[in-house]
Amino acid sequence: MPSTVLVGAQWGDEGKGKITDLIARDFDYVVRFQGGNNAGHTVIAGGQKLALHLIPSGIMYPEVTPVIGNGCVIDPAVLIKEIEMLEREGFSTQRLLISGNAHLIMPYHLDLDGAQEHHLGSNEIGTTKRGIGPAYQDKAARSGIRVQDMLDPHIFELKVTTALREKNALLSRVYGLPTYSTAQICERFEPYTERIRAHVTDVSHLLNQKLRNGKYILFEGAQGTLLDLDHGTYPFVTSSSCTAGGAATGSGVGPGSLHKVLGIAKAYITRVGSGPFPTELAADSEEGATLRRVGGEFGVTTGRPRRCGWYDAVVARYSVAVNGLTDLCITKLDVLSALENIKICVAYEYQGQRFETAPGQQSVFHHAVPIYEEMPGWHCDISMCRTFAELPGQAQDYINRLEELAEVPVNMIAVGPSREQAIVRNWQVR
Ligand code: GDP
Ligand code: IMO
Ligand code: MG
Repeated sequence: MPSTVLVGAQWGDEGKGKITDLIARDFDYVVRFQGGNNAGHTVIAGGQKLALHLIPSGIMYPEVTPVIGNGCVIDPAVLIKEIEMLEREGFSTQRLLISGNAHLIMPYHLDLDGAQEHHLGSNEIGTTKRGIGPAYQDKAARSGIRVQDMLDPHIFELKVTTALREKNALLSRVYGLPTYSTAQICERFEPYTERIRAHVTDVSHLLNQKLRNGKYILFEGAQGTLLDLDHGTYPFVTSSSCTAGGAATGSGVGPGSLHKVLGIAKAYITRVGSGPFPTELAADSEEGATLRRVGGEFGVTTGRPRRCGWYDAVVARYSVAVNGLTDLCITKLDVLSALENIKICVAYEYQGQRFETAPGQQSVFHHAVPIYEEMPGWHCDISMCRTFAELPGQAQDYINRLEELAEVPVNMIAVGPSREQAIVRNWQVR
């Protein structure tokens, strides 16, 4: 099984960073294939805590090569800061490889992200304001600037000049914002180019060659299934393909090379930003407040409080389908120890109709009323459990029920934020 895709099965922040770090030691390459520094992945091991935005979570292992694929968008200033942070923390970033085909987040993308959100008013998406949407807009419009363009000063200047003709008009005339000059941007990017030049490579060619040589590749998704541009709760989504298929287009390997697909889901659900969330608990409800407090549910990237709610098996089944999940990992089971009883949404009700699978019509999803099953809690600390048998009976029942509802085996369970706080049931890579 040489390659595995790891994806978020909910609305992001499921613990993808933690699980990537947990399983990365079995792989030769860990590849980010979409998104940018809107992601915030937390890794805690050996008493060290890292918050990663662009660099894959396999970075802690010296024998793993971290790769940023063509499907990502890169803000070079942020990337360089992250490289410097990792070096300070004692992790070598020399092995880092970056696709020349990845697109750049330009300074005007940050301005436009803020301006577009402002103009949406109460319909705002609640983006991370990192320029993600505008960078992908330009990619699709064929006016984006790629990492490889930085390596050719003449091409870079030409592309910036062309882009600014339109961007400056948009910034000044539509949004009333300051404009940029070509010289200003070229000057700013010059040191970025020198810093990242040695890392730029043909990622697709490299990965295909390594796959042929029997190397093991882990594709680390960012965001989550319900934030996917095509399959998420559009328009309250991010602008990239966070589902498993994105691993192929976002790195340049064929879909036949993707063997296992591991979905990461929290034992409950959180969401940051706007958009529908059927099982959401009011922030001031006792259970909602408990989940946020005990789970530490505040964004890694923006610090925003995350909206919290019960586990949603309809969302889980949808994730199983659109990603072709072969394995599930349930994280943050320990957080539920604080609750008296635990609810699971097993279906939705809308105008007298029962939905066992996600309704295709978005407005139904917005008004779906969850149908819950209630299970007793276990009221004890499970953060030291390392085998399924060590979990209290109620926690085992909860996991068994989630497995039954998703029809996919729960082969990993996380019971705390550190690498070792995990129960690995049936997971073998090599
Ligand atoms: P990601 O974006 O999917 O990588 O997830 P984030 O790092 O944004 O958010 C997950 C948060 O939960 C981080 O603070 C992790 O350290 C923490 N975490 C991950 N797994 C567990 C777990 O099993 N239990 C607890 N209590 N915290 C966890
Ligand atoms: P990780 O990888 C949770 C959300 C934003 C907003 C929407 C669009 O840490 O799970 P964007 O800035 O991408 O245009 O914002 O997507 N969002 C995330 N939510 N976790 C993330 O990443 C997210 N990345 C983007 O809050 O609702
Ligand atoms: Mg996160």
